[in-house]
Amino acid sequence: MTIALSPSASLSIGTQAFLDRPKRLFIGGEWVESRSGEMIPVLNPATEQVIAQVQAANADDVDLAVAAARRAFEGEAWSRMRPVDRERLLLRLADLLEANADEFAQLEALDNGKSVTLARQIDVALAIDFLRYVAGWATKIEGSVLPVSVPFNRERDFFAYTNRHPIGVVGQIIPWNFPLMMACWKIGPVLATGCTTILKPAEQTPLSALRLAELVQEAGYPAGVVNVITGYGNPAGAALAAHPGVDKVAFTGSTRTGKLLIDAARGNLKRLTLELGGKSPAIILPDADLDLAIPGAAMAIFFNNGQVCAAGSRLYVHRSIFDRVMAGVADVACSLKVGNGLEPDTILGPVVSQQQKDTVCGYLRAGLEAGAEALVGGKAMDRPGYFVEPTVFVNTSSDMSIVREEIFGPVVCAQPFDEVDQVIAAANDSPFGLAASLWTRDLAHTHRLASRLKAGTVWINCHTVVDAAMPFGGFKQSGWGRELGRAAIDSYTEEQSVCAML
Ligand code: NAI
Ligand code: MG
Repeated sequence: MTIALSPSASLSIGTQAFLDRPKRLFIGGEWVESRSGEMIPVLNPATEQVIAQVQAANADDVDLAVAAARRAFEGEAWSRMRPVDRERLLLRLADLLEANADEFAQLEALDNGKSVTLARQIDVALAIDFLRYVAGWATKIEGSVLPVSVPFNRERDFFAYTNRHPIGVVGQIIPWNFPLMMACWKIGPVLATGCTTILKPAEQTPLSALRLAELVQEAGYPAGVVNVITGYGNPAGAALAAHPGVDKVAFTGSTRTGKLLIDAARGNLKRLTLELGGKSPAIILPDADLDLAIPGAAMAIFFNNGQVCAAGSRLYVHRSIFDRVMAGVADVACSLKVGNGLEPDTILGPVVSQQQKDTVCGYLRAGLEAGAEALVGGKAMDRPGYFVEPTVFVNTSSDMSIVREEIFGPVVCAQPFDEVDQVIAAANDSPFGLAASLWTRDLAHTHRLASRLKAGTVWINCHTVVDAAMPFGGFKQSGWGRELGRAAIDSYTEEQSVCAML
């Protein structure tokens, strides 16, 4: 199938060739068809055109993938692989990703709708960086020697130490907002620690995970270490989450689905890490550098169309500068180049799906009905594709659904504040606690404020800066556990104490 594009946006030969290949499930190192015989159409949200069909895995496919992952976990090729060779394979995978970076950026733009330029600079770059970062951990998963006292046996000496063992077979369920980056954040620690995985990308954006599986194969991983199954949340994700042969589930997505996974983990008490939603505040203090803070607060929400778990969707601005900041944020909203993500100068593409567009527009209507005022935006764009106007709401209050709930769209809700204590209380008044940003020139004061924010990440004079070395995750209903950094290794290993009487 050849994709019709505007003249400025042509697909590379590699991307077109990938689109033309039949899509299958990657199980046990083989490309196989689903037992269900069903396919899922893959859409380009900018055109609403079907660009591919992927397999719809069912519970039988999940059984096969879990069995393959278990065989690989126990097999000599993987379980006895030296740490330095796990590192080398991860570095090779990162190199392959880098060599195909432009193709991945195009796939993300086609499948998710996002800007191909930003996908290359952010999504793909962070994915490569993380694989290289986590590769280094493969040789540094250490325990410690413990100075035990053993009060009830003073006659003998003891030698005690800790070890870390890979948890085992991991089910990894990811969302559609950063498909490749989420896939790499998930498989990276699996491959560094010696676990195995069944990765399920979101049904809206399955393409880059399938292409990544081809690179896993090319890198030379033993069969079954990485399995990729495309399918719907139910049945495929649900079967994976409840499977007794899965030792851990790692999930990124909605808080609603995250809570279902807690029930699903019950049967075998599988380990669970959850990266869930957010309603993150950006706080602009009266002394902030507004040349930095205005575009910063605007991109905190408009980057990736607000489809970012850490998006700065609540904006608190000191009353003395409120009107000026809001006029500036509204100007940025109007200036963003809207278009098909494949066009290199696009900043704002469509949201990912008709469903997401309906959800966002439902919140826009609810906000207007509740008395919020849209300085700009407020509705869907009148053009094909799932485009929504970037929207800046003022006259909002903390009881409105647009202020309390995650919209996951290009919608910011602003409120003025007078006192620091008042804004900290307002910022923390949320069931979520993923992130927050503070904009100020008074750095000493800011570090004290940062520690009062109930958020997994606090940014100062920036927003949505994520890095391989920096743990990422949520307080409160934004999740359980942390990704990235050393935390990623800890959450894919079980700590074991060994004690010998000498
Ligand atoms: P979702 O949480 O339902 O989907 C995320 C992943 O979970 C997908 O792979 C999906 O197939 C899978 N899934 C769905 N139901 C499942 C189940 N019962 N068992 C196992 N896996 C299941 O999110 P959805 O419906 O795509 O988006 C709804 C809202 O969730 C968004 O509007 C947004 O507010 C939030 N969201 C948050 C994300 C984040 O990064 N924190 C990412 C995506 C969505
Ligand atoms: Mg798509």
